[in-house]
Amino acid sequence: MYVRSFADGDGDGTGDLAGVRSRLPYLAELGVDALWFNPWYLSPMKDGGYDVADYRAIDPAFGTLAEAEKLIAEARETGIRTIVDIVPNHVSDQHPWFRAALAGGPERELFHFRPGSGPGGELPPNDWTSQFGGPAWTRLPDGDWYLHLFAPEQPDLNWAHPAVRQEHEDILRFWFERGVAGVRIDSAALLVKDPRLPDFVEGRDPHPYVDRDELHEVYRSWRRVADEYGGVFVGEVWLPDTERFTRYLRPDELHTAFNFSFLSCPWEARRLRRSIDDTLAEHAPVGAPATWVLCNHDVTRTVTRYGREDTGFDFATKAFGTPTDLALGTRRARAAALLSLALPGAVYVYQGEELGLPEADIPPYRIQDPMYFRSGGTDPGRDGCRVPLPWRADAPHAGFGGEPWLPQPAYWPAYAADLQAADPGSMLGLYREAIRLRPVFGDGPLTWLPTPEGVLAFTRAGGASCVVNLADTPVELPASSPPLLASGPLDERGRLPKDTAVWLRA
Ligand code: GLC
Repeated sequence: MYVRSFADGDGDGTGDLAGVRSRLPYLAELGVDALWFNPWYLSPMKDGGYDVADYRAIDPAFGTLAEAEKLIAEARETGIRTIVDIVPNHVSDQHPWFRAALAGGPERELFHFRPGSGPGGELPPNDWTSQFGGPAWTRLPDGDWYLHLFAPEQPDLNWAHPAVRQEHEDILRFWFERGVAGVRIDSAALLVKDPRLPDFVEGRDPHPYVDRDELHEVYRSWRRVADEYGGVFVGEVWLPDTERFTRYLRPDELHTAFNFSFLSCPWEARRLRRSIDDTLAEHAPVGAPATWVLCNHDVTRTVTRYGREDTGFDFATKAFGTPTDLALGTRRARAAALLSLALPGAVYVYQGEELGLPEADIPPYRIQDPMYFRSGGTDPGRDGCRVPLPWRADAPHAGFGGEPWLPQPAYWPAYAADLQAADPGSMLGLYREAIRLRPVFGDGPLTWLPTPEGVLAFTRAGGASCVVNLADTPVELPASSPPLLASGPLDERGRLPKDTAVWLRA
């Protein structure tokens, strides 16, 4: 949940905890059983809260710690658990540690400060680039450079220092003690750096900062903390190597991790099936449940992505002005919702996905995301999926609250939750119904059923089955299994049309 854009309780244009609390009944009705909150801590918001200045304080724009505690308790009473987001790779440059480091204190050891290279140290210590573009180093007036894998306002912590480890375990305890059930770990595979900070060499193993073996000791230690409280982890682990990915999910490490292979997968039957099979095969040996994610606060919204020629997701290919067929994308997103909700494991729905919101075009002068600026304005950045939600079609700012911090497109009210709540055929209607019916699949594994090329069909222990047609021709459905829920109308002969999914009763 991107609090800043969910619901604005105090009318200042920024979403807040009061807004979330007022919408708990909506979330309960949708059927969610846990809420992952993007960082809600004190932050200068140079990267939407992923630049944390104090983990033990809520940003005043969102509310207070007492209110967060209330929210956690109220959600729990509604049957909804809370997952907080911890960002261990870096802090804000306004964090007391970094300020003390800049003042020349021993806190420098908690970060990666180095003299520059080249004559007079004018060049960065090595050739690493920031994930947001540009060099990963910034020079200080005293001549030293510091490392930041993201924006310069997000200095990287030195995970070789025991105080960094201790502090994060204390932060975990702080939030578990306040009743949170889980922790999402930001950039989970980037924390540990090769102490020599060597130049990056393509293909050199191990990588100087991605997926280093030392990380597993960090997470084993976190796991011991979580186990004291019965807490669970979900790691943000983007790794192409599935064997390396699964190492994070061993029984004494993280409980789950986000499935970016599925999120990035194009809308093609064969590739989706491979992604599903690989995911299940990877998770089986470590006994971890799979996760299914179609979008989040970093990526292009699903209805937009599926309405484009390239239906996969890749940060590298994001551009302004990509032609999009939203009707097509929406049809596919509806089918994808039924597909993912039928799979074994946990499904994450990103706020507004249940409303079928498209990626919004943000006028460049209103963009706030550092990805846009650091790409020199070529990458539109991630604000298009972070636009404040439409709640009421007939209210100012579509019922979000005050004048939204990011502009809402003129068509936003047509997607408002109140309109959709009254229409069972809407995206919201589909999500509610699917989440309600989902137990018909049971908890067991998945068995693929024979199908023509371009069609995915599987059944689960609960007896229900799911059929998704990605082929050009309509597909016959077995007469013996009545449809429970479909993502779109069947054709006049009761067949499943292209880009449509159906759940069938046993
Ligand atoms: C993760 C977050 C993203 C953030 C980055 C740096 O990828 O999901 O929003 O910008 O880490 O913290």
